[in-house]
Amino acid sequence: MKYFFDGLPADLPETEASLFRSRIDQICQDLIEHYKKDPGDLYLSFGRPNSVSPVPEMKKTLPAQEEETLPGNSLSAVAPKYRFEQLVLPQSVLDDIQHKISLFQLKSKVFEEWGLKEIEPYPRSALNFHGAPGTGKTMAAHAIAQLLGKKIILATYAEIESKYHGDGPKNVKAVFKKAEEEDAILFIDEADSLLSQRLSNVTQGSEQAINSMRSQLLICLEKFSGLVIFSTNFVKQYDKAFETRVSNIEFKMPDADARAKIWKHHLPDTLPLQTDVDVDILAKEIDDICGRDIKNAVIDAALKVAYAQAHNGRTDPIGMADLKDSILRIKAARIKKEGTPLSAEETERIEAQLQAKFRKDKSPAPKKHKGAKRR
Ligand SMILES: Nc1ncnc2c1ncn2[C@@H]1O[C@H](COP(=O)(O)OP(=O)(O)OP(=O)(O)O)[C@@H](O)[C@H]1O
Ligand SMILES: [Mg+2]
Repeated sequence: MKYFFDGLPADLPETEASLFRSRIDQICQDLIEHYKKDPGDLYLSFGRPNSVSPVPEMKKTLPAQEEETLPGNSLSAVAPKYRFEQLVLPQSVLDDIQHKISLFQLKSKVFEEWGLKEIEPYPRSALNFHGAPGTGKTMAAHAIAQLLGKKIILATYAEIESKYHGDGPKNVKAVFKKAEEEDAILFIDEADSLLSQRLSNVTQGSEQAINSMRSQLLICLEKFSGLVIFSTNFVKQYDKAFETRVSNIEFKMPDADARAKIWKHHLPDTLPLQTDVDVDILAKEIDDICGRDIKNAVIDAALKVAYAQAHNGRTDPIGMADLKDSILRIKAARIKKEGTPLSAEETERIEAQLQAKFRKDKSPAPKKHKGAKRR
């Protein structure tokens, strides 16, 4: 029997989407296990944490083994979703990544044949991708797994941390164990809190719990023979112990060249485009946007055009005006959501761009479909 859970919103950040997926996955695993042991009536209740279940006796009948609730046992290794060639980053960053992961490609030559295991019996590598949201950190982790021909385990700090004191360190241990067993790349998202400096004046149990997790992480990093990749947005102060063990790679907002390439990568040949679509112009005219903004803009524009074709008699394919409209709105919404009010200049510029777009919209759109400048 196969069930598909569809319907994650297209603009849901990947970290939340993966958290959602892994929770659903865990629920399904629990249900299957439970059902195998005790086939009978099945009740499902969708509440919030700590809400009162309408079927309280169900919880009691679920298998009580502590181990089964650890993320390490519920997170599964999956095939990478992105390829290295899809990743657009400055050449220096790509080289840096290649260099850091070459350990796994050249391990037997350098450590066995050339004897470096004498000085490092446990060759390992840990990376921290840090930078603004939507700049390709999660994508890069997938791309690296693909390049190394390995699966990837996607965990988030929220999954590893436990609201019951003492579970956090166990969970850290469990995800590393799982990655070791599966020979998978371990990706730990939202790891800001994990990599931050351990607290020196611990007054509360929760602070003690965070410190224990960080100490456990250090132990795991020492033992783990695979590649672990952390992703952080903004760590104020790294713990010194991690600073020397984890290599930082910064993901910056893309410049005009990178934006043009990202636009191009997000406009597959099968997408019907008008001839006026020019990724160089899009990249030059609309700055301060991340890769995720571009991806969302393409999806948004495509959906709008497909809808207009289906319901409003539109015949033109996706044009420059559609893409500009979507990206400008997404940019404005993101900036507003991030809580940084738009400066007067920025507001003026975005408004001018929107007005220019609407003026252009009034002129008839070109009809030819072929030859859009995706380059
Ligand atoms: N550098 C990039 N090259 C190509 N595509 C990119 C790049 N950055 C972002 N994208 C596009 O945006 C999507 C989202 O990027 P991704 O999830 O990797 O961002 P992130 O840095 O992990 O963000 P967050 O910090 O919010 O988790 C990718 O799936 C891809 O379509
Ligand atoms: Mg991410």
